[in-house]
Amino acid sequence: MNTQTDIAPDFGAIKAKQQATWGSGDYAKVGSTLQIVGETLCEAIDLRSNARVLDVAAGNGNATMAAARRFADVTSTDYVPGLLDASRRRAEAQGFDNVAYQVADAEALPFDDGTFDVVLSTFGVMFTPDQTKAASEMARVCAKGGTIAMANWTADGFIGQVFKTLGGHMPPPPGVKSPALWGDEATLAAMFAGQVSDIRIEKKDFVFRYRSYGHFMDVFRTYYGPIHKAFLALGDKGAALEADMEALCQRFNRDPDGGFTLPSQYAEVIITK
Ligand SMILES: C[S@@+](CC[C@H](N)C(=O)[O-])C[C@H]1O[C@@H](n2cnc3c(N)ncnc32)[C@H](O)[C@@H]1O
Repeated sequence: MNTQTDIAPDFGAIKAKQQATWGSGDYAKVGSTLQIVGETLCEAIDLRSNARVLDVAAGNGNATMAAARRFADVTSTDYVPGLLDASRRRAEAQGFDNVAYQVADAEALPFDDGTFDVVLSTFGVMFTPDQTKAASEMARVCAKGGTIAMANWTADGFIGQVFKTLGGHMPPPPGVKSPALWGDEATLAAMFAGQVSDIRIEKKDFVFRYRSYGHFMDVFRTYYGPIHKAFLALGDKGAALEADMEALCQRFNRDPDGGFTLPSQYAEVIITK
């Protein structure tokens, strides 16, 4: 008899649904607030000007902008075309002429082996359903001696707990692994085994700063695809999710005065091929 773990997940169907989710709301409104993570990551790897950089699952260009302002030669990819359009507008506004855009699935990157000196992904590749395939693709397109650098939410951090909370109300399809595994050292070692020479991880915090809990929820319910879609799907049952989200935010919020100053742990991962 098949148990849940015996069932091979239909990655194609899962991905199509996820793509619609990230295309809903307007992730760009949230992505822009995370800009410091791209900047921090580029400094952490001591990014060189003229480096050939690929940003995977780039959204509206958090890591892309950081690499572009350091005069790298950037290719920015995502499977939601509208987010790449938003990134293109950002690049134009800042006068960058060193960014190329390409719609691409992180699990099937349309580039030759060893094309890039640096492969980046901030809170992006971690959301692919076939984690092993996505890791192999990043390693494949990175040149020997090159760098793969990521920012991945951890399981215990706030956003890791947000996804756990969402899963409690809308269970993911059988066989789909938690995105937060990309913040786990042993899992990363297994995913990249035999393909890279060194993996370093440092835990850091990104601090969400909003006027209040209500402000945060309004922004995330309106613009952040996974939360936006969850409330749409739950309809009347959304009140229970709302209550769990409020309790979760109270647990992490460090602003005692009704404001919203909330650290969320992520793993800064630096891999040498
Ligand atoms: C949380 S957003 C992060 C975006 C951006 N890197 C940032 O730091 O703001 C996740 C992004 O991953 C993209 N994404 C998820 N799975 C993908 C896949 N299989 N191929 C390409 N992009 C993917 C989504 O479209 C979305 O833009």
